[in-house]
Amino acid sequence: MNILEFEDVSFSYEGYGPTIQNLSFTIDKPKFVSIIGASGCGKSTIFKLILSLLNMQSGNIFYKGKNINTLRSYAGYMPQKDLLFPWKNIKNNLSIPMDIKNIPKKEKEQKISSILEDIGLSDVAEKMPYELSGGMRQRISFARTILTDSDLLLFDEPLSALDYITRLQMQSWLLDRLNKFSDKTAIFITHDVEEAIFLSDTILVVKDVPIKELIRVDVPLSRNRTRDMLDKTEMINLKNNILSMLKNGGSNE
Ligand SMILES: Nc1ncnc2c1ncn2[C@@H]1O[C@H](COP(=O)(O)OP(=O)(O)OP(=O)(O)O)[C@@H](O)[C@H]1O
Ligand SMILES: [Mg+2]
Repeated sequence: MNILEFEDVSFSYEGYGPTIQNLSFTIDKPKFVSIIGASGCGKSTIFKLILSLLNMQSGNIFYKGKNINTLRSYAGYMPQKDLLFPWKNIKNNLSIPMDIKNIPKKEKEQKISSILEDIGLSDVAEKMPYELSGGMRQRISFARTILTDSDLLLFDEPLSALDYITRLQMQSWLLDRLNKFSDKTAIFITHDVEEAIFLSDTILVVKDVPIKELIRVDVPLSRNRTRDMLDKTEMINLKNNILSMLKNGGSNE
């Protein structure tokens, strides 16, 4: 059974031309997938459709074979901005996805302390978001996404706001953490071709706008990858291949 399927999906913002037109694609099994494309091409819109935050004009989206309009809370979402509530401390921010599901207090507390330990931030539970660095906030936001306990995790440019060095560190960290959850499907949106190659099993490239197709590129690396593997000729060719698809596209970056 497919994890995610878009069937002939079309979407336009009211009063505008189409952003997505008769788009079909599938993610056939649990894996890490990146969607890469120029700024403004419609990547975040794809996520908002998956999350039913926007309604498509035609077509269907299926999650594990079920139409999403029959489902609730099937995906965890890390939005483009970290969106921690500034007036809630870290513990209470992490509690949100579980509050929605009415999980008992004791279980929530146990899960929060376990994930804080897992992300190496056990000492920040009582702190406020403004007391944390950008990288720490991203880790908390990541933890909150994991605490939704969904098998489908959507990351909208989770690292793009970070400085280059922190970003590289966070890429390795993210990959390592996600590798612990072998039954999960993670979809990352990114502008960065190297990040897409480093994080994913498969890359879906947006070549043209409106989005009518996603060009699928498989990354021939095992999950136990290290950054120096990106220097292999095969990977450099892959990178150039994706860059040329992006350059030749009709997007507006
Ligand atoms: N609420 C809206 N109403 C009208 N147009 C919108 C709305 N939200 C987004 N758009 C437009 O739809 C297009 C796709 O937006 P989207 O946010 O999906 O792009 P994106 O690929 O995620 O861009 P970025 O990489 O900059 O985040 C853009 O041209 C954008 O200006
Ligand atoms: Mg976006």
